[in-house]
Amino acid sequence: MSDVAECVERLEINGDKENDDVVDPWTVVSKSDSGIDYEKLIKRFGSSRIDEELLERFTRVTGKPLHRWLRRGIFFSHRDLHRILTQHEQGKPFYLYTGRGPSSEAMHVGHLVPFVITKWLQDVFNVPLVIQLTDDEKYLWRDVSMDSLASIVKENVKDIIACGYDVEKTFIFSDFQFVGKCPEFYRNMIRVAKCVSFNQAKGIFGFGDSDPIGKIMFPAVQATPSFSSSFPFIFGSANVPCLVPCAIDQDPYFRMTRDVAPRLGCQKPALMHSVFFPALQGARTKMSSSDPLSSVFLSDTPKQIKNKINKYAFSGGQASVQEHREKGGNCEVDISYQYLRFFLEDDDKLEQIRKDYSSGAMLTGELKKVLIDVLQELVSTHQARRAEVTCDVIQRFMEPRKLKFSF
Ligand code: TRP
Repeated sequence: MSDVAECVERLEINGDKENDDVVDPWTVVSKSDSGIDYEKLIKRFGSSRIDEELLERFTRVTGKPLHRWLRRGIFFSHRDLHRILTQHEQGKPFYLYTGRGPSSEAMHVGHLVPFVITKWLQDVFNVPLVIQLTDDEKYLWRDVSMDSLASIVKENVKDIIACGYDVEKTFIFSDFQFVGKCPEFYRNMIRVAKCVSFNQAKGIFGFGDSDPIGKIMFPAVQATPSFSSSFPFIFGSANVPCLVPCAIDQDPYFRMTRDVAPRLGCQKPALMHSVFFPALQGARTKMSSSDPLSSVFLSDTPKQIKNKINKYAFSGGQASVQEHREKGGNCEVDISYQYLRFFLEDDDKLEQIRKDYSSGAMLTGELKKVLIDVLQELVSTHQARRAEVTCDVIQRFMEPRKLKFSF
């Protein structure tokens, strides 16, 4: 049984009203067609909502219009974002850190979420960025060889670079390729590992007695890029705080990181959490590369995109045209509408679609057509930029070096 099926089953057996959703770094499943209850998650994780006041302050401090994912609550939760804004207001530096577990060569449109917002943040704040590819994590969790991971990393890095980062401001690394070359990184890893007991790791991540010890150690690897002293070639000896944009399932890693940071004499990483990108079949689970039918890939042809959306995108429309005209569609569960919230830039157009679909004036086929156009354009632009990423470009991004900032 797949992880997801197992979890759904567990949910159904338990039927526990308080815990309808399963969210951890490995599993995201909800019982509800409208997806995870994010309000509950904020409470359970103890993070803070990105509210109107914070967004206003964000706009004031940056002097730039907000990204649509901030306007629309797609990045909805945070830790210490106020501190980062204050830091920037005072003319003091911070840096960005995000990452990806390179599990397969095929990245899908949902994988773009952290990278697109990070690119925007890098432009708005003009700060250094480090991107971690956790090939070690995937080696530990999946049945995959180190050799094949090396080529998956390379293909993923192309997709990441195609998001438009500035090579003079960005360092991309894979754990297997980089950690052995950087004693300062390894020393911080071991410092973190010394601060977290097995009991705590079990409590945070749910490890069991028969898990390999590599998995138990791994959270220290993901924690370490949160500390500027792990990258002396970028930051020298400066103690610079960082901001981590990520999907909220990654929060357990950073709760742990924030807990140990003061004992290392480091600053706690700030966080910005996004919602999950729903699977084509509906928001009960997120899009996953291991299920090709649940995903729109960055390598898909226009025809594949069209077929997948038409065939699989879960519809909130009614069974017949007549019924739809009478009752209208349900945008909350309609995957095409939900994807447009991510990728259609124009707020007015999105609102018009919401109204028309909800009233029944717009039919499912018409809604899908709008989404197909948007995704075809997005994917083909991405493919064109990706085609320009040569081996030489990859090497430049992945070379440990000083960036365009002085510390
Ligand atoms: N564990 C993440 C994944 O499987 C990869 C990752 C490493 C990451 N460092 C990160 C994600 C920092 C977000 C932020 O995808």
